[in-house]
Amino acid sequence: MTDKNANKMWGGRFEMSPAELMVEINASIGFDKAMAPQDIRGSKAHAEMLAAQGIITKADAREILRGLDQVRAEIEAGTFEFQVKLEDIHLNVESRLTEIVGPVGGRLHTARSRNDQVALDFRMYVRDALDGFDRALLKLQLALVAKAEMHAGTIMPGFTHLQPAQPVTFGHHLLAYVEMLERDRGRFADARRRLNECPLGAAALAGTSFPIDRHMTAEKLDFDRPTANSLDSVADRDFALETLAAASIAAMHLSRLSEEIVIWMTPQFGFVRLTDRWTTGSSIMPQKRNPDAAELCRAKVGRIAGAFQGLLMVMKGLPLTYSKDMQEDKETTFDALRAFGVAVAAMTGMIADLEPVPETMHAAASRGYSTATDLADWLVRTLKLPFREAHHVTGTIVRMAEKAGIGLDVVTLEAMQAVEPRITRDVFTVLSVESSVKSRVSYGGTAPQNVRKMARSWTKRLEKAAGKV
Ligand code: ARG
Repeated sequence: MTDKNANKMWGGRFEMSPAELMVEINASIGFDKAMAPQDIRGSKAHAEMLAAQGIITKADAREILRGLDQVRAEIEAGTFEFQVKLEDIHLNVESRLTEIVGPVGGRLHTARSRNDQVALDFRMYVRDALDGFDRALLKLQLALVAKAEMHAGTIMPGFTHLQPAQPVTFGHHLLAYVEMLERDRGRFADARRRLNECPLGAAALAGTSFPIDRHMTAEKLDFDRPTANSLDSVADRDFALETLAAASIAAMHLSRLSEEIVIWMTPQFGFVRLTDRWTTGSSIMPQKRNPDAAELCRAKVGRIAGAFQGLLMVMKGLPLTYSKDMQEDKETTFDALRAFGVAVAAMTGMIADLEPVPETMHAAASRGYSTATDLADWLVRTLKLPFREAHHVTGTIVRMAEKAGIGLDVVTLEAMQAVEPRITRDVFTVLSVESSVKSRVSYGGTAPQNVRKMARSWTKRLEKAAGKV
């Protein structure tokens, strides 16, 4: 076997070298080199364990560790030469290790297979991403809460069906997203808990006859425990699926917030402004200010949910245990995780930059008969009308106001009494948008005092969480 294209890491029983396209379709080094730090960390823990168990000598382990440190330094310095014919990160690292330390490098792969190795590396990569997401989402929540507290009393229209429904406050609206992101953090944390078992030592699929200590490697690599079934260990990619599923939901939340920013920024709404830092201009229309960052954050859910679907389809129907199909797990997952990180960071920047235009919001809240429910509630409370009847009376008054082209708070008392004679002047105390939001004091409601209190309690809770990470 002298062919220079042969894979020297497994080529022993092969007479012919692979077809050029075989090399190309087989190789994953183009993308799995991103797992180099995890691969080297895992290998070092494995070598230390082998030595501790007397499977290799301490001297050999020292050489291997030295070699691995050098490989890492070369990769970090950008001088490492990744070779496609060596397929993947695992074989590239091991091959270079052996160049550096000699045949002793070949002892590293004792009691291990690329199957448990890749399962380990990918898990650690996803775990690192999850830890980054938690920190990033916390920052976004803190940015939202800070803005919410500033605007606890800033009135805007609340919408259902994108039709003005009832006045709310901008702070209350922003805090809705803090709740969503808290659930997202919870989902990521939950995925991390299940992810955090170490597959190293499952070997190819059946375990090994060497006296390895899987608890030791699990602990060294910051896992809670080793995985309990060797077949499952190399066949499982749930940790990536769960992370992508949680990321899809979180990206959907970012998409909704982005869409609101896009809508609020149109001159037709004019509810908020973003500065030059978070907008772009047009090369032909000088007046334009486009919310490109918000639009891109709105779109990221596409590729993230796409990666989730893609991996789900790759995994479905695969017999136990490892199949090469599973090499298709990484490229899109890496891309999706990166995209999500960028989207969260960009959204955090936009939220800090975002300034509401209170006059426009207030004017919009006052249009569209958004206090009609307050009128109906007044009829129930003061005149003891059944709510359905109150709803009907209010509807008639709104129709009248609409015909006259005026707001609810300027309909005359006489006109209202023509519909319901028992209405008194007191009704005007509930018809302004200010009194409307102020009255919504039920737990979780939009009253400025509620929002202020919620914002403060969120700040405490989030700062405590931020201190822990
Ligand atoms: N590059 C492979 C992957 O990403 C590593 C595992 C290879 N295992 C094997 N039995 N061929 O899945």
